[in-house]
This record gives sequence, C-alpha cells and structure tokens, in this order.
Amino acid sequence: MNKIELLQSVSLFWDLTEKELGYISEKMVLRHYEAGQMILLEASEGEQCFFVTEGSVKITRLSKEGREVILAILNDGDFFGEMSLLDGESRSANVIALDDTKVLTLNRNDFLLVIKEYPQIAIQLLKEMALRLRKSDRQIASLSLSDAEKRIALCILRIAEEQGVIQKGHVSIPKAPIQQDIANMSGTSRETVSRALKLLEKEGFIQRNGRELLINNYNKFIEEFDS
Ligand code: CMP
Repeated sequence: MNKIELLQSVSLFWDLTEKELGYISEKMVLRHYEAGQMILLEASEGEQCFFVTEGSVKITRLSKEGREVILAILNDGDFFGEMSLLDGESRSANVIALDDTKVLTLNRNDFLLVIKEYPQIAIQLLKEMALRLRKSDRQIASLSLSDAEKRIALCILRIAEEQGVIQKGHVSIPKAPIQQDIANMSGTSRETVSRALKLLEKEGFIQRNGRELLINNYNKFIEEFDS
C-alpha cells in the first residue's frame, strides 16, 4: 500500500481529496514499531504527530505507586501526539505499541501548517478531542465505582464499542486486551479480572475463545452493567 492508501484509513483525513492526501503524505514518514516497543515517553519534548495505519497502541501513565494506568487504547485509523504540538507542553502520557504497529508521522511545523491549510482537518481534530474528553469523563465516573466487577464489565463495554464487531446481537472483540491491560484500564488487579471474567462467563454474559471475547447479548449486557 502506498502512503495515500494508508492515509485513507485515518478518520482525520476523510474529507480530503486524493490530491490533497498526496500533498500531505509527501511530508510524512512511515515508521514501524514492534509489540511492546515504547513510541513516546511521558514528559519528553513533542516533535511529531502520529497516525496509526496498522496495529494498536496503549496510552499510559504511571500512578504514584508505580502502577501502569491505561488511559486509552488506540487502533488503526486513530492518531496521537497532537496535544504537545498544539499546546507546546511536554508529552502528556507514554505511548506503547500493543501489536506490530505502523504509523505515519508528521513533524510539528507541517502538522500546524496542514491544520491551517485544511480547516476540515481542524474540525475533525476537535470532534475527536471532544470524543476523547467524553470517554475520559466516563472512565473517571466508572473508576469511582466501588464494585470492581462492574468496573471490569464497563471496561469490556468500552473495548467493545471501539473494537467490537456486531453480529445479530452478539459483539465479538477479536483481539481483546490481555488481563493485565484490562486490570490497568479498570483500576484493579489481574487476579480480580480473571475472577470477574470467569463469573461473567458462568453467568452467560460472555464467551472466550483464545484472545477473542464474545458478548452474547449486547443489549442485555448494557442493561445489566451500564444503566
Ligand atoms: P501528547 O501529549 O503529545 O503525547 C501523548 C499522547 O497520548 C497525547 O498527545 C494524545 O495524543 C494521547 N492521549 C493522552 N491522553 C489521552 C486520552 N485520555 N485518550 C486518548 N489519547 C490520549
């Protein structure tokens, strides 16, 4: 795939013509990261914005006790690294590849130039940042729940909304995060996640098949845990 085809999967650029994409893609560099590799380090200087064309990354920070807290998981079509380019502050979080991941990068000056030249990108960027704020608000609300199982169920719902494939009322998450990552997203331990998943399975809410996690009845799951 050439850079233009790769860029077509990035939501920020959906309103652009092929010619415009061609112009922007010339300024971009393709990079490849292996699973587990650190892409950005919190508090470092921000120089580039990243557009994920393949794979997925986790956005993390360390708690005071040194535990990893996962703020979000981003997939192909998403972008990251825009915050420090926009406000001139240092990187707000770490970004780590979850799978083998390909990104296109744009340096600070080109990123700011492209936003000024194409206002439709600025609108998409604002929409995505509003969506991220909404998700963070929901995450804060769910982390304040004392019931760890409910926090884990809500975390599964979040993952399903972003990565799930709906089929006749079931939702399949083909490559669910590992249990430690679910724990770090829901503010609990891996052991509690393991227990909660077993219970959800026993109660007929979910099925597991290797890395695939299937929510049997999506509406019932929402009714039970998110209403
Ligand atoms: P920046 O601060 O430059 O580097 C870290 C990046 O992680 C940040 O830009 C955002 O792109 C991304 N990021 C930080 N917090 C969140 C969040 N809550 N949800 C999604 N992405 C985030």
